[in-house]
Amino acid sequence: MAEIRISAKAASFTESVIREMTRIAMAHDAINLAQGFPDFAAPAEIKQAAREAIDRDVNQYAITWGAKRFRDAIAWKFEQTYGMAIDPETQICVTCGSTEAMISAMLAVVDPGDEVIVFEPFYENYGPDAILSGAVPRYVTLHEPDWTFDEAQLAAAFNDRTRAIIINTPNNPTGKVFSRAELESIAALCQRWGVVAFTDEIYEFMTYDGHEHVPLLTLPGMEDRTVLVNALSKTYSVTGWRVGWTVSSPALTSGIRKVHDFLTVGAAAPLQEAGTLALHLPDTYYEGLRADYLERRDLMLGILESAGFKTYKPYGAYYIMTDISGLGFDDDVTAAKSLTADVGVASVPGSSFYSDPALGRDKLRFSFCKKLDTLRAAGDRLAKLAR
Ligand SMILES: Cc1ncc(COP(=O)(O)O)c(C=O)c1O
Repeated sequence: MAEIRISAKAASFTESVIREMTRIAMAHDAINLAQGFPDFAAPAEIKQAAREAIDRDVNQYAITWGAKRFRDAIAWKFEQTYGMAIDPETQICVTCGSTEAMISAMLAVVDPGDEVIVFEPFYENYGPDAILSGAVPRYVTLHEPDWTFDEAQLAAAFNDRTRAIIINTPNNPTGKVFSRAELESIAALCQRWGVVAFTDEIYEFMTYDGHEHVPLLTLPGMEDRTVLVNALSKTYSVTGWRVGWTVSSPALTSGIRKVHDFLTVGAAAPLQEAGTLALHLPDTYYEGLRADYLERRDLMLGILESAGFKTYKPYGAYYIMTDISGLGFDDDVTAAKSLTADVGVASVPGSSFYSDPALGRDKLRFSFCKKLDTLRAAGDRLAKLAR
């Protein structure tokens, strides 16, 4: 009898280390600074809007590529923020979070055997995304301490087989915000080699110390070859809602919409209604969000440094990469498990952000999307390390 087995694709990647750390944290009652979800409330008005939408019976399928009001709101917000008009009828596909946005986009654009360039360290989903879409990943290093890339190394990664490049800015796990000049050099290479850029911009409103987020889509010549990926998840502290979207040319969007339709049909209809309200929140909301995250970042940098970690200051997103080589652990996985079980603070082993685990063995990532009190409590526990 034939052996029952899972597919070679499914067998070729492991479960998410980040989400595994969350489970280990729960088992040890540790403070979870592993997975990037807030422990504070989402804005009251958007929760109210979700309840009202359910009460009004917005409970059936929305249009597969997104409710019209929500797509209009996405286009409105993008134009308000970046001054570029996008057509909600032909350029947006609403998805189940940016996770589905990215995999739908890759499945729609990439053929098996195509190469996809990925900056390393990278958000761990991009590895399985590449495998699921049949892509061959090519890694380009972001060099410590400021996570810059070498232009010659990037240029050398492009060739006739290159189909796409993934750019995550503001970046998880490094906190890097790609500068306009860096994006211009990426744009020039994309145009020279006929390459599509997938840009994961889920932390667009979390930038610090004067760093400015620039969507690659807005650069000249990139409007037809960029798929922007975004979501409500981080900006409005609703990671569990699973509402995201892509913005791209009508040609690319038509492919993404087809893949999306057969993967998930659509994102939650009442939550798209609430998302419409979220996207219309006043500028003061985003100013408050940035100021709150800046305070958390600075608190957490101080906590980690006092506990003996070497930190890489993030200028965007809500994570701090640290170097643990001075702390006496054998490697990152041992360190993360010991900190969770013995100290009571969960983090993510650096190796989960690298194609070669050895490259991340001196690193741990901490998230700071938590109440100040939660971060202080983590600080009290981590202080034991310095004693
Ligand atoms: C860079 C990046 N992209 C995507 C996601 C997932 O986003 P979503 O919850 O919208 O699927 C995360 C979550 O941590 C992330 O850090």
